[in-house]
Amino acid sequence: KNMTDANAERTFIAVKPDGVQRGLVGEIIKRFEQRGYKLVAGKLMVAPKALLENHYKDLADKPFYSGLVTYMASGPVFAMVWEGKEVVKMGRKMLGATNPRESAPGTIRGDYCIDVGRNICHGSDAVETAQREIALWFKDDELCDYEFADKKWVY
Ligand code: PPS
Repeated sequence: KNMTDANAERTFIAVKPDGVQRGLVGEIIKRFEQRGYKLVAGKLMVAPKALLENHYKDLADKPFYSGLVTYMASGPVFAMVWEGKEVVKMGRKMLGATNPRESAPGTIRGDYCIDVGRNICHGSDAVETAQREIALWFKDDELCDYEFADKKWVY
């Protein structure tokens, strides 16, 4: 794939254990699909602690770090890769502010949660972070290469 293609930007989005247990996987997928983004990979899995510690390694010094890892390991997460124009920035916008009480109504967090420690979803914060997170959570052969039928109508 030609990664210089602006429409081929990718991000890592995960529905966290509270989102899975509250039945919000479909709702979150639906919003990215409706917007016109392309689903490239997805899997339900209980993340090993080592994976989560690597995923959140930049936060190791934070007081909430161990609680965050415990919460993320407490049940299955639905991990996904989404593709499309400026999907990293737009994905963050669609998720809403990290602290749900600052997330605008209409965003995923702004519509479904209250507390930062139970904020139902994760999205990569930059293109380079997305590349690191995708490589961490998915093997190359789990990333699906297919023609997205809606592309000619979306762009
Ligand atoms: S920071 O402090 O700016 O680095 O943190 P931030 O980028 O806002 O958030 C990074 C991730 O840490 C989670 N977070 C928390 N979890 C539990 N309790 C508290 N107080 C808390 N503050 C931040 C936050 O949800 C981010 O996780 P992800 O998975 O990226 O949403």
